[in-house]
Amino acid sequence: MYLENNAVSTGKCPFHGAGSEFKPFDQTYWADPYPFWENARQNEPVFYHPELNYWVVTRYADIKKILADPATFSSQILKEALVSLSPKATQILREGEVNPKSTVTNDDPEHKKIRRPINFAFVPKRVNEMESKVRTLVNEYIDRFIHKEKADLVADMFFEFPAEVLFEFLGFPKKYLSEIKQLSEQRMILKFGNLTEEEQQNEAHAAVDFWRLSKNMVKEVADAEITPDNFLGDLLRYRNGDDNILSLEDIAGLLYGLLFAGHETTTNLAGNAFRTLLTERHAWDKICADTSLIPNAVEEVMRYNPPVFYWRRRALKSVNIGGVEIPEGGNVLLVMASSGHDEAMFEDPEKFDIHRINTKDHLGFGFGKHFCLGAPLARLEVRVILEEFAKRLPNLQLVEDEIKPIVANLFARGPKELWVKW
Ligand code: HEM
Repeated sequence: MYLENNAVSTGKCPFHGAGSEFKPFDQTYWADPYPFWENARQNEPVFYHPELNYWVVTRYADIKKILADPATFSSQILKEALVSLSPKATQILREGEVNPKSTVTNDDPEHKKIRRPINFAFVPKRVNEMESKVRTLVNEYIDRFIHKEKADLVADMFFEFPAEVLFEFLGFPKKYLSEIKQLSEQRMILKFGNLTEEEQQNEAHAAVDFWRLSKNMVKEVADAEITPDNFLGDLLRYRNGDDNILSLEDIAGLLYGLLFAGHETTTNLAGNAFRTLLTERHAWDKICADTSLIPNAVEEVMRYNPPVFYWRRRALKSVNIGGVEIPEGGNVLLVMASSGHDEAMFEDPEKFDIHRINTKDHLGFGFGKHFCLGAPLARLEVRVILEEFAKRLPNLQLVEDEIKPIVANLFARGPKELWVKW
């Protein structure tokens, strides 16, 4: 079962070479990935995986070093799908002119230029203003299912909730919400999944639709008579009608990025938080008794059971990482989830401990120049969800026999269904 899988692997099997043993799309591995990475950290912390054509890095110190060195490790690889797309799927994307400028896929100087306007609009004031709205929304969702006998927290809340918060934050018309949710799922598997030719073409069409929708949404808000008092309005004010500062297409590119990064991840964080806290019942009981423990508990979930499992870079020159020579142009897969379990960084790492002092040093939101811009919003959302559940549903329990498998991809990990009763 899923959480037991986070326990230390006891019967340590001999390691025959991580490159051949790593089966990223295999359900058995994905249902229980942590013992594999414990073994890799100890025996082969950096290895080459020929099938993926990636150098896989597993230790905290090495991953942090890579994230801290954008001059050597480029983010432009994130423009590409993890498993190379077919010529037909690539053609669909080209013809649809899907070429958004985004912070996460660019290096300096482009990255700096694009991140500046988001920083301008992503100020703490805007995030803090969200707290009361988020709290109201959490209670509305709870009200919708509390009369039932049991609920699937993913379907009944976590799937849509972060997107609704994001739309409110960005200032987007809610009518696009379910379409964006659907298109995001498709975009995720196009970029990080392992698809057939037919699936690739379908998902490539979905990416074209997503890009067109982003452009239309920006135009709709830009054409409105009053510039709204929200994130999107802030970007329009920053641009001040001058394409040289920021064009409408640039804003659409930023939105195309945010409309993906800003909810899938939080959906999985909320799912992982409840899955972990309800399994580790002592921790749930503690946060119900004292909600001031919640912020550190959220960080501990980010360390122990993070939503972003892998991330990527490309080496711009030949470089030695953990004693292994990664060649110029080498693709690098960072096993972010493994970094949180690194025994050299976190004492007794397989223990879920909401009082852990250095848990905030996890790399779950990245590190350095590309550090997650939405981290304050994601933290706020999950904190408020937990506060309201602790208040209204302290007897919440997992319905153990209704735990479903997790969809395998090379990006995020979280429960696809999470049945609870109270
Ligand atoms: C639990 C939720 C989240 C997790 C785990 C997460 C994780 C990450 C990670 C690991 C990065 C670093 C990427 C890199 O180094 O290349 C990142 C970047 C980013 N995240 Fe998040 N994120 C979350 C929520 C959000 C939200 C809610 C938003 C927006 C509202 C957001 C917007 C961004 C943006 C714009 C970047 C790119 C920053 C840059 O390249 O300069 N994220 N995120």
